[in-house]
Amino acid sequence: MTALRVLQVGAGGMGRAWLGTVAADPDVELVGIVDLDLDAARAGAAHAGDPTIPVGTDLTELAAETGAEAVLDITVPVAHHPVTLQALHAGLPVLGEKPAAQTVAEALSLAAAAEATGKLFMVSQSRRYNDQLVAFRQHVRGLGAIGGLSTRFAKAPHFGGFREQMDDVLLLDMAIHAFDSARYVLERDPVSVYCESWNPSWSWYRGDAAAAAVFAFEDDVRYVYDGSWCAPGAETSWNGDWRASGADGTALWDGDHDPSSDLDGTTGAPSPAASVGHEIAGALTSFVRAVRSGETPDGEVHGNVMSLAMVEAAIASTRTGQRIVIDEVLERAHAEALTAERHDAVRDRLAAWGSVRSALAAQSAEAPAV
Ligand SMILES: NC(=O)c1ccc[n+]([C@@H]2O[C@H](COP(=O)([O-])OP(=O)(O)OC[C@H]3O[C@@H](n4cnc5c(N)ncnc54)[C@H](O)[C@@H]3O)[C@@H](O)[C@H]2O)c1
Repeated sequence: MTALRVLQVGAGGMGRAWLGTVAADPDVELVGIVDLDLDAARAGAAHAGDPTIPVGTDLTELAAETGAEAVLDITVPVAHHPVTLQALHAGLPVLGEKPAAQTVAEALSLAAAAEATGKLFMVSQSRRYNDQLVAFRQHVRGLGAIGGLSTRFAKAPHFGGFREQMDDVLLLDMAIHAFDSARYVLERDPVSVYCESWNPSWSWYRGDAAAAAVFAFEDDVRYVYDGSWCAPGAETSWNGDWRASGADGTALWDGDHDPSSDLDGTTGAPSPAASVGHEIAGALTSFVRAVRSGETPDGEVHGNVMSLAMVEAAIASTRTGQRIVIDEVLERAHAEALTAERHDAVRDRLAAWGSVRSALAAQSAEAPAV
């Protein structure tokens, strides 16, 4: 089969990582790079090893000129909605960096746009593509009735740049990875959250760099997140430190090594699962397979929105001091998306949904197993 011809939009820091991944994958061919900053696009072409790759500032134009078959949206979160919408309306499937969009309302608009255009929009939630996470889920499946899952995350990176200036930096920029992994491991969706966030006195971030959240999931399961981005000393892995508790035992994963489980004195030995590949390379493989086969991949936008809803609900809880019901976040976002929508076909799709939760589940590859 010939390689899938992809156009990459966004050639910043993460864009360069994608260009390297695309170059290493024989199933895709980079046919052009779009960036508002043409110098960044040109530098991206050089980084990709071919300075003659066509570059431009307009997605629709360059896609037509180059015969692109798919788009990678590696722009900043605020640009995810306009860029992905433009690609879908140009008839091109999209693989986009997390988050799906800047807000849940925009993510719902993109889910409806994918329905209206019949084109795939997959979010690359890269930390799902980790065989240790898959193995951890296998261990959790062996615990019998599950009661609780927790993540401790403690790092102290000095990024400089936009992260040190943004609001809610930990919840918005980092916690979505853990929240999404929690949904994956529990095979359930969240119902409500109580969250507090704060900024330690020594923090080098402007926004809150620490947060603690308790999510109620379906079946009365609890997920507890305790994270900090300014916690020097005894740091956890980038994936965080995980513990799951069930009727028959406990499963552990430090985020960097193989997970384990203790079935009340017996070592858990679940059957191994197929490899999902590694981070963005795994997401790219899954996307290409889905475009070729028409199957719904993990990360398809309908299945991913709930992870963004967890972030938005956690932030709403820190602002109000109240427990926030996730369905209220979804329904409010739906009303906002309907009001803001400019495309008739997309608005019609949004209007045809019953409850947002059921509309998302109906289209999702990740419908809860219980
Ligand atoms: N999966 C991960 O672990 C991970 C890590 C880092 C970043 N990210 C995500 O990757 C995305 C990009 O982050 P980054 O660090 O590369 O940002 P960046 O600011 O370094 O680069 C973004 C690039 O997009 C371009 N751009 C912005 N708006 C555009 C538009 N409308 N059209 C075309 N180009 C546009 C900018 O000019 C810039 O070159 C973000 O969504 C971020 O959350 C993911």
